[in-house]
Amino acid sequence: MSETPEDGAIEPGISVHWREEARIDPPPAFVRQATAHDRKLFETLSSAHFPEGFRRHAALLQWDHPFEAVLDQTNPPFYRWFPGGRLNATVNTLDRHLREARDRVAYYFVPEDESEDITPLTYGELAERVNQLAGILRDRFGCKAGDRITIHLPMVPELPIAMLACARLGIIHTVVFSGFSGKALGNRIVDSESRLLITMDGYYRNGQWLDHKVKADEAYLAAASEGVRLEAVLVFERHPGHYRSASALRDGQDVLMTPHLLDQSRSRIDAVPFESNEGLFIMYSSGTTGRPKGCLHGIGGYLSWVTATSRDVLDLKPGDVYWCMADIGWITGHSYIVYGPLSIGATSVLYEGVPNFPDAGRPWRIAEKLGVEILHTSPTAIRALRREGPDAPHRYHPPFRLLATVGEPIEPETWRWYHDEVGHGKAVVVDTYWQTETGGHLLSILPGLDPMKPGSAGPALPGIEAAIYDTEGRRLAPGSGRAGILAIERPWPGLMLGIWKDPARFRSTYFEPLKRGAQQDRWLYCTHDAAMQSADGYFRILGRTDDVINVAGHRLGSKEIESAALTVPGIAEAAVIPYPDPVKGHVPLLFVATRPGTSASKGISRSVEAAVTESIGPIARPKAVLIVSDLPKTRSGKIMRRLLRALAENQDPGDLTTLANPESVDAIRGILRQMS
Ligand code: PRX
Repeated sequence: MSETPEDGAIEPGISVHWREEARIDPPPAFVRQATAHDRKLFETLSSAHFPEGFRRHAALLQWDHPFEAVLDQTNPPFYRWFPGGRLNATVNTLDRHLREARDRVAYYFVPEDESEDITPLTYGELAERVNQLAGILRDRFGCKAGDRITIHLPMVPELPIAMLACARLGIIHTVVFSGFSGKALGNRIVDSESRLLITMDGYYRNGQWLDHKVKADEAYLAAASEGVRLEAVLVFERHPGHYRSASALRDGQDVLMTPHLLDQSRSRIDAVPFESNEGLFIMYSSGTTGRPKGCLHGIGGYLSWVTATSRDVLDLKPGDVYWCMADIGWITGHSYIVYGPLSIGATSVLYEGVPNFPDAGRPWRIAEKLGVEILHTSPTAIRALRREGPDAPHRYHPPFRLLATVGEPIEPETWRWYHDEVGHGKAVVVDTYWQTETGGHLLSILPGLDPMKPGSAGPALPGIEAAIYDTEGRRLAPGSGRAGILAIERPWPGLMLGIWKDPARFRSTYFEPLKRGAQQDRWLYCTHDAAMQSADGYFRILGRTDDVINVAGHRLGSKEIESAALTVPGIAEAAVIPYPDPVKGHVPLLFVATRPGTSASKGISRSVEAAVTESIGPIARPKAVLIVSDLPKTRSGKIMRRLLRALAENQDPGDLTTLANPESVDAIRGILRQMS
């Protein structure tokens, strides 16, 4: 925020230029059947009834012991929802459905290879497998409530099973996206001080068999070198009984799960209820420094929020067939593939591979075959599917009634294709805005009550008090036409409990940036997103104001990418910026300056690229590594990333007289011209 102009206005990366669109009413057939259809909801959750209105959320859950209060706000910003209440997340996601719906499908596992059968897993079977693994974790490894286990699994049923087995025992799970490298995995094992790692031999992606276990070996060594020695690595097999990784099982490290599962096929673990504010999971997310933040979510508040938003926003009903194409390794998958839909009792598709494999018709084929009514995906996936198969949706007829998106702004043109072609004009489109930290949706229409507006994430949900502030702490009125920082003015149950082991960082990252001017005494949650609010209350998200790069709806920290580049010998400085990409929204573009004596060469660029993908994963691969002699800096030595971004996007870089080295600008312009 230090680079923002004096008058308190915000000039974010400016990549969203589209104009305000007209509002469109959802199809009447949708509205007639929508669960959230009563405007009283807004009154119940209005500030006049704060926090008591959130009893409605708690009422969606089964509690073993009632809570003493709705909210404990005696120690802001560490809010505690439903204190004293006790519950178990797996009773809510599994056991409570067993009497009525034991045979209802919880997940259809769809392997990427189309010739492999789709496997249904009923709620009864899922509960059995969760109990079985929980039994192994408890009896064989002595794991107990409060321990941490890291899970590094691809999109296979073992992933939600492992998460829920932890939740049953009160173990805090920390799932690391399967595409992350062994090093990144090792870092997260160290930070969470996990006792075990759960992984798999390999999986299919884009038609290839990917060896996965090899990353566990790297992570094991990386963690050990930093003093965290895993007690064991639990290895599942993608095809049980057929171990296929090139990396051999190691004595004293690896435990092959298939034989253990056979031994423990009938275990039943009593679900112990835990206090509402005990930890459920840690999800690492990128932030402003090189060290990823462990966002710690609790049980009661989180589960109530994802259950309520699954119902009100996604309109999920028990037994609905639903497909969220995200990966469970990100927060969207935690909230809207695992905890929310299972708590509702819905039937979800769990798809192993990439959406456009083997062709861009695959998602529509799967959706038609399984009768998917509700689809949830990212603008990046929609753009890719549109580009590769603009007419493909016409060949199939899935019964879509709601199409949701998440993760990045969706431009009206892409929105229209989603609405007109994918939904055949019959489904409502819902753009949901939120963050890892927020547990679940913050901004979205309630599709049974609000009109749609292409390109806008919608108004704040009932119970969310959202507003835009400038950098001086002034609240900008709806319709002001000015951009500012999106803030949430009151706590809500989905807000994370804190940052793992770092309460000071929680406060300083989210609650101090907006303690300015008249807001000194308030605890405004800072989203770090720039946004505008139109007169009708709808918000348009313009992008991050901090050092986070949003690639295909996934958050990457600039500092993590730059630190990786700086590990290459001969690199003196590095600066990464988001560069517009027609499919992924943005991709990282990396500038590096070499040390004297190291000359610019293709070899150096390639080493930097390799260092980045090895340190983080292929998702962080830069569009290009541009070698410059000097990076533009302020007189105090700060690298001007905003200026690099203006140059890369061919925009007016503004006043250059304050630079310490204005001559660097022309050189960079020249290099950028060569790139395009
Ligand atoms: O910049 C916003 C963008 O994604 C960021 C949060 O990323 P993450 O924590 O990984 O969670 C992604 C899934 C919720 C936000 O700060 N973002 C998320 N949803 C939207 C969005 N930007 C615009 N429109 C959205 N619907």
